[in-house]
Amino acid sequence: MALILGIESSCDDTSAAVINNTTILSNITANQDVHRKFGGVVPELASRAHQQNIIPVIHQAIKEAGVKKEDLDALAFTRGPGLLGSLLVGTSFSKAFAMGLNIPLIEVNHMQAHILAHFAQLPGQEKPVPSFPFLCLTVSGGHTQIVQVKDHFDMEIVGQTIDDAAGETFDKVAKIMGLPYPGGPVIDKLARLGNPDKFKFPEPNIHGFDYSFSGLKTSFLYFLRDNLKTDPDFIENNKADLSASIQKTIIKILLKKLKLASEKFGIQEIAIAGGVSANSELRNAMETAHREWGWNTFIPPFQFTTDNAAMIAVSGYFKYLKGEFSGQDAVPYARGGM
Ligand code: KG4
Ligand code: ZN
Repeated sequence: MALILGIESSCDDTSAAVINNTTILSNITANQDVHRKFGGVVPELASRAHQQNIIPVIHQAIKEAGVKKEDLDALAFTRGPGLLGSLLVGTSFSKAFAMGLNIPLIEVNHMQAHILAHFAQLPGQEKPVPSFPFLCLTVSGGHTQIVQVKDHFDMEIVGQTIDDAAGETFDKVAKIMGLPYPGGPVIDKLARLGNPDKFKFPEPNIHGFDYSFSGLKTSFLYFLRDNLKTDPDFIENNKADLSASIQKTIIKILLKKLKLASEKFGIQEIAIAGGVSANSELRNAMETAHREWGWNTFIPPFQFTTDNAAMIAVSGYFKYLKGEFSGQDAVPYARGGM
């Protein structure tokens, strides 16, 4: 048995989790509402909010897990990628806390952790986990990647966005429509009331397994601008149909390359991860792919889609088993690291 504390602070969520092997005992996240009025994450405000939240969040995670801090076997933290100021809060705190408790420190890559969230188990609800090799579509606010996962830490990015990420696209089209940040969940909700075939938007023609979303965003912007000339209420009158149509297009683009990769690599074990994997249309598309293409699909429970510390703790557990520990000289990194 290994009790591991996970700490996540790469963007605008301060999160702490305690796990026993791969079973989640607690997973506490403090979201930062402070960014809402700016329509996006303000890095300086994010790191300040992390400083305020980190101790209460960790305290609550340990308490809810029903353990004592002295019982912890290791501490796993997000070293990158992410916002440097935000990462610095989690990294500095983790180093000090691990040193105080005299337990090993384990650094985790945030993007690998989104994928390894599939190995997290909720108490009393053992679920099947993907077997290696599998493909994972990781879609968040900052990343859109198709990753070939050969082992827990042997991962290869086989395709990725050359411009905007899928989550960023949801957020930007929402902003163009005057909807609040983050736009993904808002569009998802509005789309349920709309007709996804009402409007057509162009799909990019990009080589291989890579993605591009900036053209789609621009054509959405021009489309609205043209229609607003004749009908100033065009957005208000078509909110649901616009949401449903743009969402359908984004998910269609995502699935097309994922199918191509599945065929090329001969892998039918397919997972989705990251904030956008909470999207209902994407989840439906995966169910359809399971039925029609025979994919063995893995869709994360909602609490493991957006940023959370359970995925950091689980990743830490697999490193703990291998004895892969970090020193007090660990510093955050903004990009890469896979
Ligand atoms: O993984 P995540 O929490 O943070 C990053 O590491 O970026 O992902 C956040 C992104 C945001 O762009 C948000 O709009 C998007 O995930 N998102 C969604 C949904 N829920 C969150 N996008 C589409 N549909 C959703 N239901
Ligand atoms: Zn993330």
